Parts: sequence; C-alpha cells; structure tokens
Amino acid sequence: MSPSFYHILHLSSLIVLLGYTFYAFAAPAETRKRVLMITGVMSLLMVVSGVGLLHKLRLGFPVWAIVKLVCWLGLSALAGIAYKRRAQSDLFMLVGFALAITAVVLVYLKPF
Ligand code: HEM
Repeated sequence: MSPSFYHILHLSSLIVLLGYTFYAFAAPAETRKRVLMITGVMSLLMVVSGVGLLHKLRLGFPVWAIVKLVCWLGLSALAGIAYKRRAQSDLFMLVGFALAITAVVLVYLKPF
C-alpha cells in the first residue's frame, strides 16, 4: 500500500478519534459502549497507519515517534476516563488538546 493510503488512514482515524473522544465528555452514560468501541477501533487504525508510515517512509523509529506513541496512548485512554471522571472533564479535555497538539507539532518539526 502507498504512503498516501497510510497518510489518509492516519488523519481520518485521528479526526474520528478526536471527535468521539470529546463527545465522550458530554455524552449520556448509555453511549459508553458504542463510543468506546469506535474510539478503540480508530485508535488501532491510528497506530497501525503510524507504524505503516514509519516503515513506508523509511524513517526508522526516531525519538519523536516514541513521544507520539506516548501521546497516542494517553489520547486512547481518554474516552474511557471521560465517562468515569465527569467532574474533571475540563482538565481531561485540556490534556486531550495538549496530547493531540504535541503529536502534531512533533511530526512537523521532528525536533529529535
Ligand atoms: C496523538 C496521536 C497522533 C497524532 C495527533 C498524529 C498526527 C499526525 C499528523 C497530523 C501527521 C501529518 C500527516 C500528513 O502530513 O499528511 C502525522 C504523520 C505521521 N505520523 Fe502521526 N499522529 C499520532 C500518532 C502517531 C503514532 C502513534 C505514530 C507511530 C508510532 C505516528 C507516526 C506518524 C508518521 C510516521 C507520520 C508521517 C511523517 C512524515 O510524513 O514525515 N503518529 N501524524
């Protein structure tokens, strides 16, 4: 498969993952199962396409990719946390923005 395929998959799954993650902070409790299923699948697609890109673009496994992996782990856990910690929604939403923005900055600047 071409790098473009992985780029599109990476960004599309990111858009859906972010959308449903932030929805989870305000969604009624009965949506939990469906939202966690969707964010789980999107999170898997994100990491598969990310590793696929590293391979296709022959980037090896640089430090910025390891940090992105940490951001991805945090972002993937957020939807589950969102249903359990309603009182701290504001804090966790900020954490979500910070993780997503850090991952984007890393991929464009590739500082290390
Ligand atoms: C919070 C999670 C993540 C976010 C927000 C994110 C975001 C992005 C964005 C915006 C791009 C640019 C796409 C483009 O230029 O078309 C990108 C590319 C990329 N991402 Fe991610 N990503 C995340 C997780 C990961 C993970 C876990 C990996 C792999 C371990 C990964 C590996 C890559 C690679 C290799 C590229 C291509 C770099 C290049 O074109 O030079 N990403 N990512």
